Amino acid sequence: MAYQINLSLILVLTIVSVCLPWPSLSVDPTPLQDFCIADLESKSPIINGFPCKKPADASSKDFFFEGLTKRGNEFDTLNVNLTQVDVFAFPALNTLGMSMNRVEFLPGGLNPPHTHPRATELSLVVEGKLLAGWVSTEYILYWKVVSAGELFVIPPGMVHFQLNVGEGRAQFYASFNSQNPGISKMAPTLFDSIPLIPDDVLSTAFNLNDSVIQLIKSKVAHLGR
Ligand code: GLV
Ligand code: MN
Repeated sequence: MAYQINLSLILVLTIVSVCLPWPSLSVDPTPLQDFCIADLESKSPIINGFPCKKPADASSKDFFFEGLTKRGNEFDTLNVNLTQVDVFAFPALNTLGMSMNRVEFLPGGLNPPHTHPRATELSLVVEGKLLAGWVSTEYILYWKVVSAGELFVIPPGMVHFQLNVGEGRAQFYASFNSQNPGISKMAPTLFDSIPLIPDDVLSTAFNLNDSVIQLIKSKVAHLGR
């Protein structure tokens, strides 16, 4: 009898633990030491993250980043300047599960529909007015015009965008719960991949003629990734 109760208990506990959310599966793993400054040049085998540079070689300057002190001066074809402060730009972020982007907009600038496959985005607008929106897996668009001092949040992996709807420049800082959130832009993912997705896949998916797909591909190629 006791044996039977134990077996049922183990079964229930197993089911409950499988159903409970496992934070370590949805965010970067927690660190196992104070810090692990990424050795981006390491020749060791590829691992999840980067090997640490020797702690004895660390200095204060490893923990500072000055790349956001100046405004960006190069804007892309959509009038946006993106400064990514991820583990590649700031190796001290390795294993810390955080990073930041600054996105600057000229008037009319668009940060086009994209996702961050490995992170939630929490953003603070510091200048101008942005129309920020994201689409849920139920295909519902949530959007709002956000101004300086206001925050918006994009749940992990959701397609989102920001459009400068103010008169002048706009700017926001995005924080991420990943050292390497990644960016997948929708337009190049679908229409400018390497190699290209075959026309008939896209013409069937979008219910369009191949000629329209070819036109979209050529327009997207001009935008750049
Ligand atoms: C914000 O949406 C960003 O891509 O940094
Ligand atoms: Mn984003």
